[in-house]
Amino acid sequence: MTGKVAVVTGGASGMGYAMAEKFLTAGAKVVIADIEQSALDRAVAELSAHGEVFGVRTDVSSEESVQALADATIERFGAVHVLCNNAGVETGGTFGAIEARSWRWVMDVNFFGVLNGCRVFLPLLEQQEEGHIVNTASVAAFNTGTATMTPYATSKFAVLALTESLDIELRARDASVSMHLLAPGPVKTRMVEAERNKPVDVHVSQEPERVAQMENLARITAEVGLEPSAVADMVYDAIQSGTFFILTHPEHALTGVRKRLHWMETGEAPAPRVAGT
Ligand SMILES: NC(=O)c1ccc[n+]([C@@H]2O[C@H](COP(=O)([O-])OP(=O)(O)OC[C@H]3O[C@@H](n4cnc5c(N)ncnc54)[C@H](O)[C@@H]3O)[C@@H](O)[C@H]2O)c1
Repeated sequence: MTGKVAVVTGGASGMGYAMAEKFLTAGAKVVIADIEQSALDRAVAELSAHGEVFGVRTDVSSEESVQALADATIERFGAVHVLCNNAGVETGGTFGAIEARSWRWVMDVNFFGVLNGCRVFLPLLEQQEEGHIVNTASVAAFNTGTATMTPYATSKFAVLALTESLDIELRARDASVSMHLLAPGPVKTRMVEAERNKPVDVHVSQEPERVAQMENLARITAEVGLEPSAVADMVYDAIQSGTFFILTHPEHALTGVRKRLHWMETGEAPAPRVAGT
């Protein structure tokens, strides 16, 4: 990482912040991109103690905004070697109560944000001898049936499909860029407060099912969540070793895959996900 340039979206908080810190301490120059200006300013001030870092206010759901992030990176550092498409949000409810605007927000940030990063940065990364794109999905990419979180799971399945497909294509033409899929289980971040960044016209559900699910998620995260720095270490190691799947809680991901295989082989109907598995 020494002397390399890394760009981390959603870098003002949680796992993105920890990745930025890890890359800086490993000797990289880092650009953090985030939609939350005050958090971005605070993060840049803190992270500057570890190395050369600057922040660019970015809305990953806008391709123009991601292009401006790339332009600012090249202008300042002249190159880019690592991109972490990590920014993500969550909102939901029971299916009939989720408005089209809420679906759009989750898909725009979680899926199109990752796609925008890949589309804009891939040609820049390919100018280097070696480049890496780390797309953040979730164990939700392997598990359906978490109550009130259907848009989130849908967006993360899409990130999985995009990342695997692009990786296969890049390998087939022996490209210099490798793809990595980060699929975290519970991690102690501000994810349960993701609606803090919602556009004004996104409605927040107060349904009892939704409130209970969010309380459950917050409790599980507090009880068994990893520290973001542990995830950043795994991301760093995967970049060094060229590992595609970065599974912070392998059993949570593998259980989801095994369940689907079972449903497909037996014809049994998909079952709800048990919290914390
Ligand atoms: N925390 C968990 O348990 C967990 C589990 C699985 C997956 N994830 C995924 O990890 C990623 C990082 O989230 P986190 O847990 O660190 O949460 P977090 O809320 O602490 O950090 C997410 C960051 O993304 C930023 N962001 C939101 N919308 C944005 C936009 N449109 N453009 C740019 N930045 C935007 C936020 O301001 C925030 O700084 C997300 O993709 C999330 O879905 C989290």
